Amino acid sequence: MLKKMNQGQVFLVGAGPGDPDLLTVRALRMMQSADVVVHDRLVSRDIMALVPAGVRRIDVGKKPDHHPVPQDEINALLVRLAEEGSTVARLKGGDPMIFGRGSEEAAVLRAAGIKVSYAPGITAAQGVSASTGVPLTHRGLATGVRYVTGHCQANRPLDLDWDGLADADTTLVVYMGHANMQQIAAGLIERGLPAEHPVLVVANGTRPNETRLVTQLGALQIKRANIPVPGPVLFIVGRVVTLIDSEDSTAADTLLQAPELQRVLHG
Ligand SMILES: C[S@@+](CC[C@H](N)C(=O)[O-])C[C@H]1O[C@@H](n2cnc3c(N)ncnc32)[C@H](O)[C@@H]1O
Repeated sequence: MLKKMNQGQVFLVGAGPGDPDLLTVRALRMMQSADVVVHDRLVSRDIMALVPAGVRRIDVGKKPDHHPVPQDEINALLVRLAEEGSTVARLKGGDPMIFGRGSEEAAVLRAAGIKVSYAPGITAAQGVSASTGVPLTHRGLATGVRYVTGHCQANRPLDLDWDGLADADTTLVVYMGHANMQQIAAGLIERGLPAEHPVLVVANGTRPNETRLVTQLGALQIKRANIPVPGPVLFIVGRVVTLIDSEDSTAADTLLQAPELQRVLHG
């Protein structure tokens, strides 16, 4: 496809999990050389503070009526801005290519003949691993790691590879899992993981308000399914959780009553 004269371009930028220190140099450079920044709800305030004053910002995380802007409207907005000649930084939480719909946006932009460049971001799993000291693999505890989504389309059952996931040698990281984690824990136990299998729950990972909880699959089962959580929550399931770098993380039963848990669950 022929490029139009004076056409702009789009930088697809991963903003990481929240701590500005976890931005890549490329991400920062792209954010600071854009004419307009189009950002999601998950991009932290501390990161947005690094966008130079005077650069236009468009928040597509929430419309004024509090609904997220539909994906096709975001795609159309990016195309329009680039066609008008803008250099656009499309800023997404974590890595745009991990549960971030970055590849969908890139495909639409490329189909419209718009140049797309990428800055990878630290995904939530890696940010949380670094902030808690919990490795994602560890000799003797986990030979691999899987990232899965715990989210399902409305009125659809969770479509997970249950037998494959119930593997004690693989660390399982569940993104977008807070509404269905009870069901996921039950499914994993049913397929053979022990009820005592460790789980780390981290809300607002890498941010000043990070909250963490060590619990067990069996303990998650007894929770309500739709837990209101103030901020993004990640679940790391696996023996690696026993290596957490924290003195205040103890066994599940005591933590069920703990203030940390109450904060994670009820804000
Ligand atoms: C739509 S996905 C986006 C993932 C993102 N692209 C990434 O690579 O981290 C949103 C989910 O990521 C996880 N997440 C993102 N940032 C997080 C953070 N700072 N702390 C905990 N979980 C986070 C949560 O599970 C949240 O529901």
